[in-house]
Amino acid sequence: MEINKVYLGDCIEVMKGFPDETMDLIFADPPFNIGIKYDIYNDNMSYEEYYEWSNRWIKECYRILKRRGSIYIAIGDEFAGEISIILKKTGFYFRNWIIWYYTFGQNQRKKFNRAHTHILYFTKDKEHFVFNDKDIRIPSARQTVYRDKRANPIGKIPDDVWEFSRVCGTFKERIGHHPCQMPEDLLDRIIRTSSNIGDIVLDPFGGTGTTSAIAKKLGRKYITIEISKKYYDIILKRLNGRISEMKQTRSNNTTHQNLLFDIDNFTETQ
Ligand SMILES: C[S@@+](CC[C@H](N)C(=O)[O-])C[C@H]1O[C@@H](n2cnc3c(N)ncnc32)[C@H](O)[C@@H]1O
Repeated sequence: MEINKVYLGDCIEVMKGFPDETMDLIFADPPFNIGIKYDIYNDNMSYEEYYEWSNRWIKECYRILKRRGSIYIAIGDEFAGEISIILKKTGFYFRNWIIWYYTFGQNQRKKFNRAHTHILYFTKDKEHFVFNDKDIRIPSARQTVYRDKRANPIGKIPDDVWEFSRVCGTFKERIGHHPCQMPEDLLDRIIRTSSNIGDIVLDPFGGTGTTSAIAKKLGRKYITIEISKKYYDIILKRLNGRISEMKQTRSNNTTHQNLLFDIDNFTETQ
């Protein structure tokens, strides 16, 4: 197993090659099985297939997670219940059912607009795990609204409803045309909370490499896996700093959409 590495391949097959109990933190943002158009992956399995596939990759995560490690899984309404059951049946302990509430959700025609994703937070051990509360505290209403002298001066642990904007197509944070890029602030909170400097953070579904980019920025080690060569290339460019370079050098003489197109289309090696 190599550290600070982007693997190209199927996450179950790649994880099979990793030793037991080596990861400190796993963040997984799998395809939600709702027909999203990815580069090569077909996000449209039958119910049984998706359940069985989820069961297999979650079991592999359990095997390679350290005894004091944590796992966070992002998942849509359609399979949140099933993924929670699989996590419990696999042996993980439930800690929080986090709601990521976002602005800029997609407008619907015949149902209410969706403005949230579930983030299921579980640990391998019931009592012993990393939870760096001091690194993620925020000002409390007692401090900011009521100016209450009894308020804890170091703030409070955030609630289990998190508000971060989605990364829309027009945002500066955007990396190419991947359909599901996660916001950096969301990964920042998870990685600070549940890992320490030097720990290994694994993301089995790399996408644009948000988890690895933030792990690297925060002094953690990263491993990620991506099945599409196109997205794998984007992750390499992001981790090598090429995308920030392109954004800086070209921001004045190209449109945002042309920049995204260029990011998608130049190649980089590991
Ligand atoms: C929801 S996206 C992840 C987005 C990522 N969190 C980000 O911030 O960019 C899921 C990704 O998993 C990849 N994928 C699908 N099946 C996979 C598999 N079996 N092994 C590895 N990657 C896979 C898809 O190509 C897609 O890029």
